[in-house]
Amino acid sequence: MSLSQGAIRATTDVERIEAPVTFKAYMMCAFAAFGGIFFGYDSGYINGVLGIPYYIHLQTGLPYSLLDDEATKDQFAIPSWKKSLIVSILSLGTFLGAIIAGDLADFIGRRTTVIFGCLVFLVGVVLQTASNSGLGLIIPGRLIAGFGVGFVSATIILYMSEIAPRKIRGALVSGYQFCITIGLLLASCVAYGTQDFTDTSSYRVPIALQMLWAIILAIGLFFLPESPRYFVKKGNLERARGVLARVRGQAVDSELIEQELAEIVANHEYEMQVIPQGSYFSSWANCFKGSLWRPNSNLRRTILGTSLQMMQQWTGINFIFYFGTTFFQQLGTIDNPFLISLITTLVNVLSTPLSFWAIERFGRRPLLIWGALGMLICEFIVAIAGTVDGDNPHTVKAMISFICIYIFFFATTWGPGAWVIIGEIFPLQIRSRGVGLSTASNWLWNCIIAVITPYMVDKQYGDLKAKVFFIWGGLCILCFFYAYFLIYETKGLSLEQVDKMMEETTPLTSAHWKATTTFAAEMGLTDKGTLRAEVPQESEKKEPGSVV
Ligand code: BGC
Repeated sequence: MSLSQGAIRATTDVERIEAPVTFKAYMMCAFAAFGGIFFGYDSGYINGVLGIPYYIHLQTGLPYSLLDDEATKDQFAIPSWKKSLIVSILSLGTFLGAIIAGDLADFIGRRTTVIFGCLVFLVGVVLQTASNSGLGLIIPGRLIAGFGVGFVSATIILYMSEIAPRKIRGALVSGYQFCITIGLLLASCVAYGTQDFTDTSSYRVPIALQMLWAIILAIGLFFLPESPRYFVKKGNLERARGVLARVRGQAVDSELIEQELAEIVANHEYEMQVIPQGSYFSSWANCFKGSLWRPNSNLRRTILGTSLQMMQQWTGINFIFYFGTTFFQQLGTIDNPFLISLITTLVNVLSTPLSFWAIERFGRRPLLIWGALGMLICEFIVAIAGTVDGDNPHTVKAMISFICIYIFFFATTWGPGAWVIIGEIFPLQIRSRGVGLSTASNWLWNCIIAVITPYMVDKQYGDLKAKVFFIWGGLCILCFFYAYFLIYETKGLSLEQVDKMMEETTPLTSAHWKATTTFAAEMGLTDKGTLRAEVPQESEKKEPGSVV
């Protein structure tokens, strides 16, 4: 079915492809960032819960008296296999959830997928809260909650990137990263606060609290509009126009809204010509179409998004957030390892807002390149200092300071940067799946690192201690070259211009690329300033060249 919507006024002016935005509209886009809390809290709270004495006792039946004696203290723990199962089952859910989210976001809409994700998450949390000594509820509960987090984490990035005004898209999506850091901080505080409780509230409170995030996000999103790009993809221009007017805070019949809509439509038509959409499977296959050697092919963009998230995990950041307490304990000279962990989490929270400004001021490329350089220098300093003089309390203090500087670099660069970029590099046709796959890659590597790290640092295995930072530093060298050779500058461009830029330039020259024409003009869709929009639906196969 083809949709005839009458005339849309299109523009040939590359600067006018986006309508101005009101404060209320900014606030609407910013609210969605709240979804980051799920991500952070979920990553963080379980480590705390698994260390709560009451929970250990409940899961193992071991007597508390083991804790009184230095010799038996270490035996008071949940067996490793059980711990890894409880921790990693969530990642399995998030991984699958993020992949499915791509489909759902195209079928039922971005906003609805997030709301649905919140409901699924609530079911998972209720099961976990109701759990007791066995694994019968906690495991399915975490798996289901994982699906919910996967839906939410992948779709929020997609939604925010699609509704945010181009000039501050980077800053707004960085707000999502900020919420992740707050989630991590809340998780460590709550689990710390309840660790001495001697009844089920010790673990039920940190688990149940998460329901609050889901309820706030779902209710808030209920009042927000759907993404206009989703409606364009569905071929429903009237609704696209209506929601675009809402997210920009403009009148529905405003000329600027018409022009922005025309550009989104023209870009979509262009993409549909290049790679027509077919059946369900062929639409998945589209994510992997094109040559490996052409940097702007769909295949290359999918590899870019998924590898970028992998590299973000390779920076080693979660070593600090997941294993920080144990690492600081091993350093020996630290009195309160928990406090140091709390400080690192706080540095993460407090540094992130700088990225709101930096990502729009300097751009994505410089941030990732300089960020990797900053991180690798800090990591090698920590590794060398710890290896040479790790028993000296002054050296340990210096190491902790450099770890904090390292976190500062991550929080202002790769932390937000990876999320911002995956929301920008995919064309509309494969955007939801591309973002879903990239998010799934983040969770997959997050999990792989969580599983293998103990083998690198635990006493009975690798016992690497500070030397583990040689590994993270080495991986950060790869991140540096990766950013230099493969990351495009997408700052200030509309998502449609990003698409064009990736066709016409290379990562190294991308920062100098300037739009010279609009999609509407290029497609020959402007006729005395107007475009007759015939938006092909995704289900409809179009032959190349048969546009309008
Ligand atoms: C990463 C997480 C990490 C967090 C730390 C996120 O961007 O994807 O894995 O725990 O940043 O702030």
